[in-house]
Amino acid sequence: MDRIRIVGGNKLAGSIPISGAKNAALPLMIASLLTDDTLTLENVPHLADVEQLIRILGNHGVDYSVNGRREKQQEGYSRTITFSARNIVDTTAPYELVSKMRASFWVIGPLLARMGEAKVSLPGGCAIGTRPVDLFLEGLQALGADIDVDTGYVIAKTRNGRLVGNRYVFPKVSVGATHVLMMAASLAKGETVLENAAREPEIVNLAECLNAMGAKISGAGTATITIDGVEALSGARVRVIPDRIETGTYAMAVAMTGGDVVLEGARPDLLQTALDIISQTGAEITQTNSGIRVRRNGAGISPVDVTTAPFPAFPTDLQAQFMGLMTMAKGKSRITETIFENRFMHVQELARLGAHITLSGQTAIVDGVAKLKGAPVMATDLRASVSLVIAGLAAEGETTVNRVYHLDRGFERLEEKLSGCGAEIERISG
Ligand code: EPZ
Repeated sequence: MDRIRIVGGNKLAGSIPISGAKNAALPLMIASLLTDDTLTLENVPHLADVEQLIRILGNHGVDYSVNGRREKQQEGYSRTITFSARNIVDTTAPYELVSKMRASFWVIGPLLARMGEAKVSLPGGCAIGTRPVDLFLEGLQALGADIDVDTGYVIAKTRNGRLVGNRYVFPKVSVGATHVLMMAASLAKGETVLENAAREPEIVNLAECLNAMGAKISGAGTATITIDGVEALSGARVRVIPDRIETGTYAMAVAMTGGDVVLEGARPDLLQTALDIISQTGAEITQTNSGIRVRRNGAGISPVDVTTAPFPAFPTDLQAQFMGLMTMAKGKSRITETIFENRFMHVQELARLGAHITLSGQTAIVDGVAKLKGAPVMATDLRASVSLVIAGLAAEGETTVNRVYHLDRGFERLEEKLSGCGAEIERISG
């Protein structure tokens, strides 16, 4: 199994290209199931999760081709990919595939809306929390679907071949359920109003994509989304937005090691709350023509309290990285996780580097230390593992991060991007 070896202590300086967002690319790829025409997506990141979803879509009969010039002219960087779901050959998503990636459950929306039926495995548990699918099922039932759950599968059928628009109020904000209901309602008969919908930028990107395909969606990015159903959707060409979590991660890395880095292609409006918090820790953040510049020179890291919540608040997907930064702050900070109940697995590993963290329910109290010392650590999930990388960059001596496959799910060319800015970081294969 690959490992990442880091020798900490170097400041970061230079520029880092920000990739297309994993969490935008995945629902856009799934939207290809809604049409028999072709959907071309630009700026799709080259990640293990994207490759896995290509396999899952292939099982339903979706063809794809990687086309055009490579955007960075280098193998492995974000690409333009065309998807064609002309013939859907199977409306079942089996356990073996869905259990590998939770987002693949989302195929239930387009399959049901276009084919009138879908049989999709329950995604099962997940390291960061129980993550049920009740909101998906309740929402699809509101659109007139009959739903059965049997032997680990959700079996969904439309009554007269088509979903029917309705008003649905989410009892809790869910990114995935908002994606799915927006896709399903696009092909429903009549109007759907989704209230208390997720407002994440990835929702807006999907709505833009669906509208380019001929859907009639308004209000995406607010808590109320209105969808006027159409009979069929066509092809389109859409660009994946820059990854706000990758942006925030590298911004925190610079805030921690010190230095001066431009995050090329990053959009501040996608993560304003996180950027404000990073500024409060003592880093200087400015918008440039090409992206976001992050600097910290000399000043120590100030402690700042953070609570995760749905967009536009501070994202749960940056919580672990922020905790990494706070381990070296000049004082105590409190980090409260409100989205997932078990998203503190990085605490034990950060402690191996010398961090002082105590847990009290959903809050971590981080007592900053003057220095961390490198050690072997274990990646437990995608965002937790990158928090260990950030901490390793600032720690004295050598840190080895094991189980790197977690990182490969969501960070494109991490070692290359960081070593390009002066970090001593390498992948050790085998
Ligand atoms: C998306 O997951 C992201 N994944 C996650 O990123 C992210 O952490 C999360 O949104 C929150 O921002 C993708 O976009 C692929 P939710 P999702 O439904 O959609 C509960 C990463 O590291 N809930 O918004 O699965 C749920 O348990 C990943 O890139 C129900 O109770 O998250 C959670 O507590 C990890 N019932 C809360 O809602 C449901 O039916 C929010 O989850 C659905 C969700």
